[in-house]
Amino acid sequence: MVTNTTNHEADRPFLTRAYKLSGVDEARDLYNEWAATYDQDLADPSHDWVAPALTAAALLDFFSDANSSETPLQILDAGCGTGIVGAALALQTPARDPKINTDIDGIDLSTGMLDVARKTGAYRRLDTADMSGSLESIEDGSYDGVICVGVLTQGHVGPGVLREFSRLLKTGGCAAVTVREDIWESGGYKTVVEGLEKEGKIKVVRNTSEDSLRGASIKMKLLVLERL
Ligand SMILES: C[S@@+](CC[C@H](N)C(=O)[O-])C[C@H]1O[C@@H](n2cnc3c(N)ncnc32)[C@H](O)[C@@H]1O
Repeated sequence: MVTNTTNHEADRPFLTRAYKLSGVDEARDLYNEWAATYDQDLADPSHDWVAPALTAAALLDFFSDANSSETPLQILDAGCGTGIVGAALALQTPARDPKINTDIDGIDLSTGMLDVARKTGAYRRLDTADMSGSLESIEDGSYDGVICVGVLTQGHVGPGVLREFSRLLKTGGCAAVTVREDIWESGGYKTVVEGLEKEGKIKVVRNTSEDSLRGASIKMKLLVLERL
């Protein structure tokens, strides 16, 4: 059977390349090349990238329930790309809970994507980082929240980074993370989440199946992981 994704590969040349990436250098090159048209492509009905808005809402729901302090929440947008997630957080926060203030930092492999993110004005700082290794420049317990959208996916970043997210969260903080659904088990993400749970490091507050790249019929797991 020919899948919907295959049918429209010609309409989505960058996306097709993105899911065939075989290493960090290839990923950096692709996203540097895609940066100028990424936002436009992802908003097009052929892509319909609904993951950032859904994940931003999930993170804000967690803090809306859990946060009583008015001091800014320290948030890391891991694999921030062009800043669609930072912009979604800025847009949704006043409506969801006007008491919530955020300082958002972003990291990404691609300087081209970070240059676009800088123009959103949503971020306090933006740095290059390779999330396939350890994020050693970030100290333990630095952030109240981590948000990571569209990065734990085919050809991108593996499950090891979930341990890093747990390390750099404060107790009581949370990570709102998407994982491409068809590699949730085969890619080892489920095993790492279960391991962190067994070790008493996290509690799985949410694990739901959602549309991600709706125009390409791609689904995601949307996880909200509380740091214990
Ligand atoms: C599909 S985009 C998602 C960007 C953004 N989070 C969004 O929702 O639009 C994937 C992002 O992951 C970044 N990326 C890929 N491999 C990476 C790695 N090893 N370390 C850090 N970022 C990486 C890419 O540069 C790209 O910006």
